[in-house]
Amino acid sequence: MRAYDIIKKKRDGGSLTKEEISFLINGSLKGDVPDYQVSALLMAVFLNGMTDEETIALTEVMMHSGKTIDLSDITGPKVDKHSTGGVGDKVSLILAPLVAAMGVKVPMISGRGLGHTGGTLDKLQSIPGFKTDIPVEEFKDNIKNFGLSIIGQSQDFVPADRKLYALRDVTATVDSIPLIASSIMSKKLAEGINGLVLDVKTGSGAFMKTLEDARRLAKTMVKIGNSMGVRTVALITDMDQPLGKTVGNSLEIKECISALRGRGAEDLMEVTLTLTAWMLNMADSISEETELKPLKEFTLKKYKDEAMDFLEKGDAFKKFVEFIDAQYGDAEVAFKPNLLPSASATKQITADREGYIRRLDAEAVGTAAMLLGAGRKKAEDSIDYSAGIILHKKVGEYVKAGEPIAMFYYNDENLFKDAEEVFRSGLEIGDREIAKRKLIHEVIMS
Ligand code: URA
Repeated sequence: MRAYDIIKKKRDGGSLTKEEISFLINGSLKGDVPDYQVSALLMAVFLNGMTDEETIALTEVMMHSGKTIDLSDITGPKVDKHSTGGVGDKVSLILAPLVAAMGVKVPMISGRGLGHTGGTLDKLQSIPGFKTDIPVEEFKDNIKNFGLSIIGQSQDFVPADRKLYALRDVTATVDSIPLIASSIMSKKLAEGINGLVLDVKTGSGAFMKTLEDARRLAKTMVKIGNSMGVRTVALITDMDQPLGKTVGNSLEIKECISALRGRGAEDLMEVTLTLTAWMLNMADSISEETELKPLKEFTLKKYKDEAMDFLEKGDAFKKFVEFIDAQYGDAEVAFKPNLLPSASATKQITADREGYIRRLDAEAVGTAAMLLGAGRKKAEDSIDYSAGIILHKKVGEYVKAGEPIAMFYYNDENLFKDAEEVFRSGLEIGDREIAKRKLIHEVIMS
């Protein structure tokens, strides 16, 4: 077998076998296939796509490129939720303790933020002492003992993804559906879970800007998961404006603490509780060994009401405290959020006219938060955990001229001007009210 022939086959629109994919990917990891040949293959995939069979084969090869996690000694449903990434997307930090409090095991391997999007690990690391790099044995013990753990990827976990992602990043081949789907699913399937609920975002702040692309990505990932023995469902949810009221790491942790105490913003709770309902439905189907059923209105409400009950009783909050403590974080922050890092400067962004907020572009708000220091332009950049934005108004709300729309939090005055400019470029205030976008667009089960 020669790398040249494999690249040529894909370039000419052919379909690769699992052996050919393995030859290239594993050859690259061993140093036998140079980066320029892997990059050429990535571009051929970007231009010509992959069949479902090829995407599944690529996922399997990537998943087995390093160590996988074996959770088979933990009984019962082990269900994860994964979001394709967004702005203000703090759902995991509310949903994971909530679902764990309700008796489902939740193993989560999460990522860091990049560009305008945030990452669960960064939010967690804004809690003093919190460790995202605990050993796998400790991760497993935490799941066994109280149902929940969230960690980052270790060096020997799916190394093929690290390698391919670095090459995609510099060869303009990131936004390819088979490459995104195999990248996400190889990591999720290596976690040892038996159920997965995907939150595929669509809108200005998402990878997939259109519903049609989000649907294609969701269908590809659902097919990969189900064909590899992990029950998978995808919800397509909205990311046209940020979720909830905060963007930025410690600000988002504060918002999660309020939500866990039953005081969450309406949009944030709607997305969180709907995903929670699907995780509970998934867990029930695993326990009962029955097929995953579509959630009809009545059952969806039943699961959401049950979850709300656990929030109101304080059980989800208690689980959050237990989880922070087990991963060496200062759990006092849950009771005294002011112990979280806080910025030295704040400034209000006010409306320059009266009217209805017609657009609060998620990508622009995420980029503004990044420019204030909350995010990274490049993967190796460091971040300021205390920087970010609190939104006082969301799309559809009415504002008077001069009324505050947002508060910026930062530590370096030089960062403010550019951030404000980007924020305002994503803001539109008009005379006419705008119809609210749906929060949950679709459920994809096959
Ligand atoms: N997230 C991933 O893990 N991989 C991608 O390719 C895109 C988003």
